[in-house]
Amino acid sequence: MNNNIVVFGAQWGDEGKGRFVDYLAAQADAVVRFQGGNNAGHTVAVDGKYFKLRLIPSGILYKNVLNVLANGVVFDVKGFFEEVDNLKKDGIPCENLVVSDRAHVVLPYHFELDGLSESKRSSDDKIGTTKKGIGPTYMDKSERSGIRVCDFVNEEVFPALLKKNIDTKNELIQKVYGGQPFDYDAILKEYSALAKRLKPFVRDTVTLLNAYVKDGKKLLFEGAQGALLDIDFGTYPFVTSSHPSSIGVPMGTGLAPKTIDSVVGVVKAYTSRVGAGPFVTELFDDVGDFIREKGGEYGTVTGRPRRIGWLDLVVVKHSALISGMEQIALTRMDTLAGVKKLKVCVAYELDGKTIDHYPADLTVLEKCKPIYKEFDGWDDDISKVRNYKDLPDAAKKYIETIEEITGAKVSMIGVGPNRDEAILVRNPYEA
Ligand code: GDP
Ligand code: IMO
Ligand code: MG
Repeated sequence: MNNNIVVFGAQWGDEGKGRFVDYLAAQADAVVRFQGGNNAGHTVAVDGKYFKLRLIPSGILYKNVLNVLANGVVFDVKGFFEEVDNLKKDGIPCENLVVSDRAHVVLPYHFELDGLSESKRSSDDKIGTTKKGIGPTYMDKSERSGIRVCDFVNEEVFPALLKKNIDTKNELIQKVYGGQPFDYDAILKEYSALAKRLKPFVRDTVTLLNAYVKDGKKLLFEGAQGALLDIDFGTYPFVTSSHPSSIGVPMGTGLAPKTIDSVVGVVKAYTSRVGAGPFVTELFDDVGDFIREKGGEYGTVTGRPRRIGWLDLVVVKHSALISGMEQIALTRMDTLAGVKKLKVCVAYELDGKTIDHYPADLTVLEKCKPIYKEFDGWDDDISKVRNYKDLPDAAKKYIETIEEITGAKVSMIGVGPNRDEAILVRNPYEA
């Protein structure tokens, strides 16, 4: 029995985390976001109705599940209420939702600085961020000038903190970037109103979550982004500013590392990446275009076309190594149907030698050539399959290779975007 499970992206994001968090949330007492912000775009589909979640955890459709934005999250308060209001229109009350008093608040100058710093970079250096102010907010946190939720909702603290920050940021925006300054009074007015609205959602989530653990309640930690976007272990500097896998959970929640019972990596059956950075198995041919169009691979947050490539198991193994991933939720097996020959990268060739680890140095990574294992594809529409045994043999071979090379077990398989379009091989809470 596992009480506390982490679901994280084992590639570069958009693996289908939201749909499997929603799937598992039926068994959980709380779903917890522990890092990132509304750079995330998590899709949950139920009977053809699509919900696009950004900050709000993917357990929100279950009224008896507590949805927690923990301290490691960077919190765009305006974006949060836009999301809440949209969900309410769809009949989701959002009453089972709390925000940590220790989370850092994203303010208008963070968005602006995200855009300005990208525009200053040369075309080779641009990260292609989501421009949601993520990097600048984490920078302020590290620099110790950030504004936490507890400061934000405190009328005696927020005005002075905001003043200090706006003065510094305006200087930076004007003198370094030649941009337009922010108006303190206007922001104070707008955000003080938001702070009042936020107060009922604010909790000491460290105490709350530790009490849940003590009471034996089941927690589901929802990673955003992907392990290859991790600021320490990803393709730096083409990464986000947080720790998207299980390593982010203790510091992003205030729970001890031993709290985690099992780690499930969500793996897309091929690879996609949005934004710049290395991508050894990237496809620039008709197959890549076929997968992009069939899979509707365009960004949930930015609408950008996603870069597409073959499944890279060197990448997935790297994610497994840093996260303790023992289980895999494999998505998009249905999207691959119709591709005659499939390839999976099992190792890299570097200067005539075979390597199976993921190099840190991007100039080394550039020299790595994928070593592929080839598979016959399958034409069958597998979207109605609900039992592993009913999958085409070719699909089973593909899955077995993933298990063999990563050492992790495929517990769940996505055969379509909807909640019920999945094969449960083993229940992660019972594994
Ligand atoms: P996340 O950021 O990891 O939650 O993933 P996104 O929601 O950004 O992108 C995943 C996309 O794939 C969404 O459009 C999902 O509806 C869709 N999806 C997830 N799993 C499957 C699957 O098994 N098959 C198909 N066809 N689509 C899926
Ligand atoms: P979900 O949770 C895919 C990428 C951006 C950019 C880099 C840094 O939906 O999987 P940031 O705005 O975080 O500073 O951008 O990270 N990125 C994502 N790519 N899915 C995401 O989230 C992402 N969140 C950020 O495209 O390359
Ligand atoms: Mg996404």
